[in-house]
This record gives sequence, structure tokens and C-alpha cells, in this order.
Amino acid sequence: MSLNIKQLCVKIKKNKLLENIDLNLKNSELNIIIGPNGAGKSTLLKSICKIIDNVDGEILLNNEDIIKKDIQEVSKDISYMGQFQNNSNLNVIDILELSRRKYSGFSLNKKDHEVIEKIINEFNIEKFLHKNIDFLSGGEKQKIFLASSLIQEPKILLLDEPTSFLDPKNQIEMLEIIKKVTKEKKLITIMVIHDLQNALHYANKIIMLKDKKIIDFQDSQDVDAKMISNLYNIPCEIFWQNGHPFTFFGHTHNHGNKHHNHHHNIKDTN
Ligand SMILES: Nc1ncnc2c1ncn2[C@@H]1O[C@H](COP(=O)(O)OP(=O)(O)OP(=O)(O)O)[C@@H](O)[C@H]1O
Ligand SMILES: [Mg+2]
Repeated sequence: MSLNIKQLCVKIKKNKLLENIDLNLKNSELNIIIGPNGAGKSTLLKSICKIIDNVDGEILLNNEDIIKKDIQEVSKDISYMGQFQNNSNLNVIDILELSRRKYSGFSLNKKDHEVIEKIINEFNIEKFLHKNIDFLSGGEKQKIFLASSLIQEPKILLLDEPTSFLDPKNQIEMLEIIKKVTKEKKLITIMVIHDLQNALHYANKIIMLKDKKIIDFQDSQDVDAKMISNLYNIPCEIFWQNGHPFTFFGHTHNHGNKHHNHHHNIKDTN
């Protein structure tokens, strides 16, 4: 399976939101988009799942152009978890069952219930099933929405900042699950996250999006500090420790104290 995006341009009214996007993605790979606020990351995900349809170019899933299909058909293959979720006033179990209906139609059979059950166990969300989603915490909601994206058994999984409200333990748990299902189910996963350490550690490929354009598309282990500095226009250093990247941003200073002090802080606290 492959996803080929060719010369994708997005224009809403007179504003260009994306320019000449070319991407060639393979299944079983986790692709992570990084880039500054307002670069166009969410716009790219929304264009792929047809939430935005003011687009030119081609988005070929196995050589069939998604742009020419209707959204119902596209949503069977592509599941999308947005950056911001609206209130829905539904119980968690209803949300999970609803997302399976996209795949199976109105009535759910034994297999459907098994898929739902499996995800409930995997995500450890039994205790939330009969709660109203609007009253869960930000992180709990994100877990539920990620679970419901997978219940659809998509070919393409689009996740817009799926871990932004999660505590460190849950972030790691979710990223591990995302990486695992991408491989096991041979998905093409495209995810936006701002946490560079997690991005570099978990991604197979890094897509760098800046000012409406893709400026780099790399294997994650080939990403270097210079590329990151250029992407965000700030100094950056990357240190590798036991295969884990640690990124350091923002400023340079010339005094080598044991404890890290900033000149302006010293003045403030005097
Ligand atoms: N429907 C819209 N109509 C007009 N402009 C839009 C629309 N949606 C987004 N934009 C603009 O397009 C640009 C890219 O927005 P987008 O949401 O894709 O950014 P992003 O890279 O996801 O940023 P963030 O990291 O803050 O989520 C922004 O300048 C935004 O104001
Ligand atoms: Mg966004």
C-alpha cells in the first residue's frame, strides 16, 4: 500500500495554506510531521481526509485519487483524530460503537464487538465506558479518541497532536501503541507532535513543514540539529544517549556553572 501526494496545493478564499506538497509514504511506517505553529500541519492532515476540499493536485491511495472520491467512501479507509475535539454529550461506549459503525454500517456483529472489546482492554479504558466523554479529563479524552480511531480499522491513520494532554507515562504508552499498530496492521500513519524527543525517537520518517511547504523529509535517525534550527529559526542542539535523542533549544550562554544560571535570572532574583 502506498500514499502518493503530488503537487498538493490548498487555498481557502485568497489564502494559500499549502504549496506544492509532494510526499510518498509507505505502509508500516510512522511518519511524524513537525514544524512551527501555523505552518500548515493540521491543514495537511485535514486535506488528506477531505475535511478540507479546496485542494489542487493528487492524493493517490493505491493509485486511486482520494480527491475524486466522496467523503463517506474515503472515511472507511482513513481515520482522523483532530487537534481539538468538540463536546458531544455521548457516553464513551457510544463513541466507540459509533466509530465502528463507520466501518460496518448500522448494526454491529460479533466480530465488531470483539474488535471493540480488544481495544478497550488494550487502552485500559473499561472504567470510562459509561461516563460522559465531556466530563473526562483532557488526557482521558485523548485516549478515548485514539481508541476510537483504531476501532475503525483504517488503512491510513491521521493523528493531530494525539498526546498533547497526556502525562509522560500515558504519552509513552500511546506512542508505543501507535507504533505497534502501524507495524502490525501495516498502516500508513501520519502524526503531528511538537515533542521533538518523542518525534525523533518514535518516527520512521520525519516530515518538516515550514511556511506552507515541506522543507525536508528524512529518516528520523538522519535528522540533525542544523535541520531543526532551520525549521524553527532558533539554536538547537541534539544529544544522543543510549539511542535516545535529547534536544536543547533556544539560547546559548558562555558561563559554565555547575548549576544552569541565566544572566537575566540572576538579576531578577538578586
Ligand atoms: N479554514 C481556514 N481558513 C483560513 N485560514 C486557515 C484555515 N485553517 C487554517 N488556516 C490558516 O492556515 C495556517 C495553517 O494552519 P494549521 O492549522 O494547518 O497550522 P498548524 O501547522 O497545524 O499549526 P499548530 O502547530 O498551531 O497546530 C494558519 O495560518 C491558519 O490561520
Ligand atoms: Mg495544528
